[in-house]
Amino acid sequence: MTNRRLVTITDNASGSSVECEVLEGVHGRSVLDIRALPSKLGYFTYDPGFASTASCSSAITYIDGQEGVLLYRGYPIEQLAEHSSFLEICHLLLYGELPDKARWKEFNAEIRRHTMVHEGIRRFIAGYNHDAHPMGMLVGIVGALSTFYHDTLDISDPEHRELAAIRLIAKLPSIAADCYKYSIGQPFMYPINSLGYVENFLQMMFSVRAEPYIPSPVAVRALELMMILHADHEQNASTSTVRLAGSSGANPYACVAAGIATLWGPAHGGANEAVINMLQDISDPAEIPKYVERAKDRNDPFRLMGFGHRVYKSFDPRATIIRQACHDLLQDLDAGNQPLLEVALRLEEIALQDEYFIERNLYPNVDFYSGIILRALGIPLNMFTVIFAISRSVGWVTHWMEFFTADDQRIGRPQQRYVGAARRDFVPMKDRG
Ligand code: CMC
Repeated sequence: MTNRRLVTITDNASGSSVECEVLEGVHGRSVLDIRALPSKLGYFTYDPGFASTASCSSAITYIDGQEGVLLYRGYPIEQLAEHSSFLEICHLLLYGELPDKARWKEFNAEIRRHTMVHEGIRRFIAGYNHDAHPMGMLVGIVGALSTFYHDTLDISDPEHRELAAIRLIAKLPSIAADCYKYSIGQPFMYPINSLGYVENFLQMMFSVRAEPYIPSPVAVRALELMMILHADHEQNASTSTVRLAGSSGANPYACVAAGIATLWGPAHGGANEAVINMLQDISDPAEIPKYVERAKDRNDPFRLMGFGHRVYKSFDPRATIIRQACHDLLQDLDAGNQPLLEVALRLEEIALQDEYFIERNLYPNVDFYSGIILRALGIPLNMFTVIFAISRSVGWVTHWMEFFTADDQRIGRPQQRYVGAARRDFVPMKDRG
């Protein structure tokens, strides 16, 4: 018999107690299985923001926020960022292993086969106002994809699930580029499947039918890196949303649309756009102390965008990698004299020496630098979070698929502590004065 580690929780008032098993992980903190707590002690746990709650067991991504570690399927992000490609990361996340040569060829072909979008989607896009935010468009269009694939929506069928995952990864760049082309009044471009995934996206975004377009290899690599770093991040808000939506049996397109909607918020994926807005507002390094003081003022809702992280409390390993890439890119693009970067670097320096930020472990996160990279690549501001969504699509669908193979899958249904009006009786309108 294996040694079970148990933690006993005792209610001092009633004297009742419950034994909770400690469940070990491969890395990181163990978790306390509190499932018996309500039936044995009559309590739920209270954990706003789920900061102390593991909602599932997962074999996809591991983060150690104290040590600044990020592993995809066991591989350190630093090694993947240096040696791998976004599409290879997609395979690794989806199937758990790096592909061998034959499998790599097959996977590439599968993704390429699905890069085109139904022409009906383009008519759908044409219904949006010309100044619609592309994230709003993306939420709607991805949700609408389910209406095009009725025949492959049986989520109990692993083949249907895999096909949906491939379709989402393959089509998101095409849909995103279509949204952009529509917003600037240019004709939609079709994917060119001889190009790599990232190159193809840049081609659909920036080429026009009248002229040839060759994206710079430096730009392709910088974007590829950014996408690798954003591919998954375990149980963040949007991924948890996708899993929660998936737990109800909703179709994968609806679940990913819910993830996109969650990503849009400035405290999550919208941060890279918010960082640039903030740097533009600051505009002059001399103004930085004023903004830092505002960020420290409890009565002012202003926060330094791109600083802080729920999980990383020493440094964000993605930020370390992308910071260097950001400098390299700006040098290569001969954009070394970027005033925005000057503001960014000065802000980083000032904040990192400030007691308020040191005490609270507030360091620049990945989005502090990714916004600067996207801007240097000529990506319009309102497309920043869309690119994050393309990158995260693989993480979302991998978690969505993992949910169906878990032996403890249940519909997600958090509890609450009710603090509203106590029970009272209805008073008819005529008696209410
Ligand atoms: N600027 C100023 N103060 C901050 C900031 C900030 N960016 N972030 C946190 N704090 C303070 C906060 O006021 C609190 O202070 P006190 O203890 O005096 O009340 C303390 O630090 C702890 O903050 P918290 O809100 O409890 O931390 P959290 O883990 O709930 O929030 C966060 C994490 C990322 C939402 C938050 O740091 C934030 O709003 N950052 C700015 C937005 C941002 O950059 N988001 C991108 C996250 S990375 C991309 C991704 O993974 O989605």
